[in-house]
Amino acid sequence: MKLAACLSILNTLLAISQAAPINEKRSDVTDASLGLNAAGWFTKYGYPGPIPQDNLLVRDAYVTAPNYYTRNPYWSVEHINADAIKVSGDISRDKSTFREDTDVPEYFRSKLADYKRSGYDRGHQAPAGDVQFAQDALDQTFYLSNMCPQVGVGFNRNYWAWTEEFGRNMTGSYDSVRILTGPLYLPTQGDDGNYYIDYKVIGNPPNVHVPTHFFKVIIGEDSQGDSVDGAAFVLPNEYISESTPLTNWQTSFQNLTSMSGLEILTNVTEGVTVNNLCDKVECRIITYSHTRYNP
Ligand SMILES: *[C@@H]1O[C@H](CO)[C@@H](O)[C@H](O)[C@H]1NC(C)=O
Ligand SMILES: *[C@@H]1O[C@H](CO)[C@@H](O)[C@H](O)[C@H]1NC(C)=O
Ligand SMILES: *[C@@H]1O[C@H](CO)[C@@H](O)[C@H](O)[C@H]1NC(C)=O
Repeated sequence: MKLAACLSILNTLLAISQAAPINEKRSDVTDASLGLNAAGWFTKYGYPGPIPQDNLLVRDAYVTAPNYYTRNPYWSVEHINADAIKVSGDISRDKSTFREDTDVPEYFRSKLADYKRSGYDRGHQAPAGDVQFAQDALDQTFYLSNMCPQVGVGFNRNYWAWTEEFGRNMTGSYDSVRILTGPLYLPTQGDDGNYYIDYKVIGNPPNVHVPTHFFKVIIGEDSQGDSVDGAAFVLPNEYISESTPLTNWQTSFQNLTSMSGLEILTNVTEGVTVNNLCDKVECRIITYSHTRYNP
């Protein structure tokens, strides 16, 4: 193909991608009765990227950005408040089942079989426990497109679950809480002194990458709205002792940006400052028995 033709196709593709109705897609992530809008993160805090925006999966309670290479999301973003997480009798994760996500092209989709006997839990990024306002919305958190392989005992079923509980707890301190969660693949130093990114890949053929770490950004918003409180945490995908303070895992937004390749909070609305959440509230895991939420 001639260069000019290539360029013209490229320009067309660029134009299409720029014109993609992202805002329309985003604006339907709303539970009007609860005043929730997961995609509101993008306008308030900037799109966590640069990564493609044309394959976002927009669910009732969260938005996720699939990564076709790792078969994990880049992140899932949610917006919760006290009403959204209020446990109601009829709505239960016991009625939900883990499902492959047919909205992800088959080649790039993580499969139930990939996780089977892998030794890893299917770890929610947007947590099931954050969605109690409708069974459908809760069920949607069980798409594998919202999962990453997580160490079960001591992490997904314990420390990580208790970190999620802390996120929910913030709905007691803030009218509105926004949470961004995703995997990281971080380097470690080898015996020769060099740094390597070394992690397992599960499935047959191997295709679902096992993150070394996970991040969680929690933003607490008051209705007054001229300041918000936020914190970023990076936790290793491994057993973590219950006695480890959550603040051990706190990092700066800049560091998270550098680790993740995602710009975080680039476009906080002018005149709004982001204070350290952990200066305002006690940042700590909130433990409960993992039998309450079997993974
Ligand atoms: C947050 O945690 C505190 C202490 O455990 C508890 O008293 C409070 O009810 C929790 N609030 C919410 C909204 O979960
Ligand atoms: C950010 O990363 C640098 C370099 O790794 C480290 O020295 C610093 O302590 C980190 N800051 C926070 C707040 O974690
Ligand atoms: C955030 O960034 C988008 C473009 O990425 C821009 O359209 C929007 O106006 C920005 N919002 C604020 C509040 O700066």
